[in-house]
Amino acid sequence: MDSIYLIGFMGSGKTTVAKWLAEKLQLPLQDTDDMVEQAYGMKISDIFEAYGEETFRTFESQVLTQTKTKDCIVSTGGGIIERDINVNWLQNKQVIYLQTSWDVIFNRLKNDATRPIWSDQKKDKQALLRKRESTYLQVATYTVPTDGKTVEQIGSDILDLI
Ligand code: S3P
Repeated sequence: MDSIYLIGFMGSGKTTVAKWLAEKLQLPLQDTDDMVEQAYGMKISDIFEAYGEETFRTFESQVLTQTKTKDCIVSTGGGIIERDINVNWLQNKQVIYLQTSWDVIFNRLKNDATRPIWSDQKKDKQALLRKRESTYLQVATYTVPTDGKTVEQIGSDILDLI
């Protein structure tokens, strides 16, 4: 089968849902953030600090093309759609957008200090979600609303769709 690519904003549950799907379907799991950290031997936050966001985006684009397009569950970083090259690459893949409202995201991440974009006080994250939303919807083969659902419900919704 075609790999399942999960996209969505930070805090939408991509990693958790990807793990559930991988377990359920007995498929390997790939996570573009983990791949970047492994390939470059640095934590994402250190890459942002040392080289800035643009360099991180370049690394992220590189690892995206190294993901397995068959028989795999792939969890992507929330900004994967920031680069057109990634949007184009995802165009003919099986992409699921985990659509989560700002309120739910905010409540989940309000105390999170691990994500450089989230922790950047100068950035309006709600505006960023609004800006990214149209691209998430455009890239997605299927959109799965997640508010108020358990990981099992979200996973089952995805299995019903594919
Ligand atoms: C980012 C999201 C993060 C990570 C990086 C940038 C973003 O991944 O790729 O910190 O721009 O939204 P998660 O969506 O897994 O938090």
